[in-house]
Amino acid sequence: MGITWDNVEYVGIIGAGKIGSAIIVSLKNCYPSLKIYATGRRESTLENARKLGAISTKDNDLAVRESDIVILSVKPHHFPTVIRQVEKSSWRGKIVVSVMAGVRLSTLNSVLEDAIVYRAMPNINVVVKKSSTAIAYSGENSSDYKDVVENIFKCMGSVYWVPEEFLDIWTALSGSGPAFIAEIVDALVLGAVACGMPRELAYKSILDVLEGTSILLRNTSRHPLEIRDEVTTPAGTTIRGLMTLESEGVKAALMKTIQETYKRSQEIGDIIDSNIRKTLGIK
Ligand SMILES: NC(=O)c1ccc[n+]([C@@H]2O[C@H](COP(=O)([O-])OP(=O)(O)OC[C@H]3O[C@@H](n4cnc5c(N)ncnc54)[C@H](OP(=O)(O)O)[C@@H]3O)[C@@H](O)[C@H]2O)c1
Repeated sequence: MGITWDNVEYVGIIGAGKIGSAIIVSLKNCYPSLKIYATGRRESTLENARKLGAISTKDNDLAVRESDIVILSVKPHHFPTVIRQVEKSSWRGKIVVSVMAGVRLSTLNSVLEDAIVYRAMPNINVVVKKSSTAIAYSGENSSDYKDVVENIFKCMGSVYWVPEEFLDIWTALSGSGPAFIAEIVDALVLGAVACGMPRELAYKSILDVLEGTSILLRNTSRHPLEIRDEVTTPAGTTIRGLMTLESEGVKAALMKTIQETYKRSQEIGDIIDSNIRKTLGIK
């Protein structure tokens, strides 16, 4: 019988580190009765996962064998070790979702040929259930289990099904995005501090602005430039700021930021993937 969400009993988290722990918390919140195996190497990792409500073990083979769905959340260079630790037969028929950056579907499908494989790219906002997660697949049977996989990741925020080729762009925009937004927030706060406003007040205010503008854009479905024009009075304050943004090249810098981050994600992905293929002897 194929896996449906109704017959999922166990989820295995292979590598309960930062992202693995956040996934345990989200799943426990959404589905309190779901049983979760969590693996790690250090006692502290296992203890932390236990506290979050998972069954902790160092035994990756046991976690994979007992689980209906397996999430691979080790660092990519630890993936070959995991492969060596798990019997080939234990992967058979399992839904396996890798959140490891850079490891391509072709590699995952070659190694896990008996599993139904997906690649997901969540971001750190998983911890507040506001991840923007992209998921890709290429295996023949994978389309049959999209609902099951979606049930896992929708606990953590929004889910988008994308072709694999978008995952490096996703990494740049959405994976690194929280760092870029945090940097912009800091710059705006410093600007207000330079004008004499206490830092804490400026910080609270800009977070309100960020959240409010996000809701406004989303709820009205209007183009960002429409909102900008509505706020921009002739000879007023906003146009002075907009001219400064233009003369300092901020928009071009942000566009280039995403493009450069994307290129780096591709470079790193190529290195990670070819190292793994070499280590595991995949042609
Ligand atoms: N952090 C993010 O925002 C984020 C977002 C998207 C994707 N990712 C991807 O998620 C993966 C994990 O990232 P992370 O930031 O969560 O790293 P992390 O905190 O270092 O977690 C990795 C975990 O894997 C465990 N591990 C290593 N080898 C193992 C093995 N053989 N068996 C069982 N567990 C093992 C480690 O256990 P010990 O601690 O006990 O050694 C560690 O807890 C990476 O591939 C990354 O690309 C991360």
